[in-house]
Amino acid sequence: MLDQPKLYGELSSWFHLLSSPPDYAEEAEFARSLIADPDFPAPATLLELGSGGGNNASHLKANFRMTLVDLSEGMLDLSRKLNPECQHLQGDMRTMRLGRLFDAVFIHDAIMYMTDEGDLRRALDTVRIHCKPGGVALIMPDVIQETFASLTTHGGHDGAAGDDRSIRYIEWTFDPNPSDTTYTVDFAYLLREGPGPVQVVHDTHVFGIFPRQTWLKLLRDSGFEPRPVADPWGREVFVGRRRPELK
Ligand SMILES: C[S@@+](CC[C@H](N)C(=O)[O-])C[C@H]1O[C@@H](n2cnc3c(N)ncnc32)[C@H](O)[C@@H]1O
Repeated sequence: MLDQPKLYGELSSWFHLLSSPPDYAEEAEFARSLIADPDFPAPATLLELGSGGGNNASHLKANFRMTLVDLSEGMLDLSRKLNPECQHLQGDMRTMRLGRLFDAVFIHDAIMYMTDEGDLRRALDTVRIHCKPGGVALIMPDVIQETFASLTTHGGHDGAAGDDRSIRYIEWTFDPNPSDTTYTVDFAYLLREGPGPVQVVHDTHVFGIFPRQTWLKLLRDSGFEPRPVADPWGREVFVGRRRPELK
């Protein structure tokens, strides 16, 4: 994995202006519906790996007792302010070991930072090691190989009362080498603070891309019975129960 993007380092305090917690309400509800399958006992504890600014957690915490893990202290600080009820821990999803089991383990878009099969396998092993037998794993990649498309989007928000900052951005998704397991998302951020001049920052994010069969194989190898699920936004996500026989 390359160095962390600027968004999770020097720019982490800007994250909620780029990606606003209320915008996650529908996606978090979709995730909740997959985690809390009415055919199984209701999960009470939820571990989220790569929880970032805590945007999903700001909605999911109404349903689960949540532990949030992220690599970036800056992102954890943001999430702590938004979600003081949740436990926050610094850790790498590939190696972190808490010595505790959860009813469910969730990785949202942070899984995209696993850029080769080795890292993806290590992250899924972390999921299994923290998931109770019979518990549920939900992994929600932005894209898999079958759903990838080059595209350009834009967005941004103005700070709420008391925050005189605003951000606008362009996000350009491109795969320079379709035969490897990565693609790039280049962001151009326009940062405004009060009446001051706008600052422009370029940030490259390197994401992993894998075919559906690789996802299913790695999840099975990790000890889950996975199934792909189409989400309402044209993506494919993976949900699976941990096989009881594995430790
Ligand atoms: C787009 S943000 C996640 C936002 C999150 N879905 C939310 O609801 O706010 C991606 C996060 O992945 C984290 N990340 C990247 N690689 C990681 C790793 N190896 N272990 C843990 N977190 C990681 C980054 O620090 C960043 O906070």
